[in-house]
Amino acid sequence: RALTIGLIPADGIGREVIPAARRVLEALPSGLLAARPRFVDLDAGFEYFQRHGVALPEETLAALKGDCDGALFGAVSSPSHKVAGYSSPIVGLRKRLDLYANVRPVISGAAATASGARRAIDMLIIRENTECLYIKDEELHDGPDGRYAVAKRRISERASRRVGEMAFAMALQRDGMRRLAPEAERTWKARPKVTIVHKSNVLSVTDGLWRETVRGVHAASAQYRDAVDVEEQLVDSMVYRMFREPEAFDVVVAPNMYGDIISDGAAALVGSLGLVPSANVGDAFVVGEPVHGSAPDIAGRNIANPIAAIRSAAMLLERLGCEPAALAIYRAVDRVLADGRVATPDIGGRSTTTEVADAVCSQL
Ligand code: NAI
Ligand code: MG
Repeated sequence: RALTIGLIPADGIGREVIPAARRVLEALPSGLLAARPRFVDLDAGFEYFQRHGVALPEETLAALKGDCDGALFGAVSSPSHKVAGYSSPIVGLRKRLDLYANVRPVISGAAATASGARRAIDMLIIRENTECLYIKDEELHDGPDGRYAVAKRRISERASRRVGEMAFAMALQRDGMRRLAPEAERTWKARPKVTIVHKSNVLSVTDGLWRETVRGVHAASAQYRDAVDVEEQLVDSMVYRMFREPEAFDVVVAPNMYGDIISDGAAALVGSLGLVPSANVGDAFVVGEPVHGSAPDIAGRNIANPIAAIRSAAMLLERLGCEPAALAIYRAVDRVLADGRVATPDIGGRSTTTEVADAVCSQL
């Protein structure tokens, strides 16, 4: 059966990098997918809002739910001031499709360190996407000593359990993917591992429940206990270790706010925003999305790096169970990056968006 993929370029360079990713999906050699994927072009974004008064049209949601196996989202321009009636379409998509985890791989094929040693960073950060401090339950009060503000933080067993389940399942899936790579290209030898990030020494009730619940997922499954190691890391020392020894991590799972912060920090370890993909994942749907924004400073010039979007397309395939096709894209991208001759300006080259997409296609 052919996969049906919704394409939502939205704003700015989203309109350049999503078509590039589409071309790569179209160039997959037959045999890697059961059938050529079908694409459905869908509207959303701030520019769409300015013309039509709605940022995430119901038709887009209906098409995603009714016709699509998954989707690729480009980027939105969010106004820095409050605009009446506008709310971010990607936030809306996460809510309406219950995409409860944000998954972000941080990969350096073989990044050179200052000492000249080669080390491979290959980490997958899984961020809980629905609760924590980001429920935005804040209150401002007048007290006898002046104003004070209070924010509530929600951690539930249900949300912690499902994202924990996803972390262990993905640790196993990544291990399987690594085994698909030829011996010569296999860099990873260790057993799969999940690192649980928290701060339960201070926030013993909320982070205590998080830690206990995620550990419980591991303890309850013979398969996970046999095949996946589990460790814990306090969030502050997590940041320290991540910069000192990023190669020590495999899958990292964190509550919403810690995950937000460490995943942006981790992106700095591997260079340009234009390289870093992500996926918004739920039980019923998945939306691939480059981490970067709409980049108004370079939009419309065909110089945006399409690699983050192309890798996001591969993550989408991986999640939809097409691991060999996903792996083929990851490897084609790695070869283009290692070769270095075709590269956009953000990573020191002079090529266009189109030329980079072409180079990935020909590596396929
Ligand atoms: P940005 O990610 O759009 O750009 C930051 C810098 O990185 C810019 O100099 C840009 O040119 C560069 N850059 C980003 N992606 C690139 C790519 N693929 N190739 C080459 N260079 C790239 O973040 P910024 O400037 O803070 O925000 C611009 C707009 O994007 C804002 O309206 C913001 O709200 C929105 N935004 C949307 C996000 C999303 O859709 N998930 C995420 C972040 C920002
Ligand atoms: Mg962020």
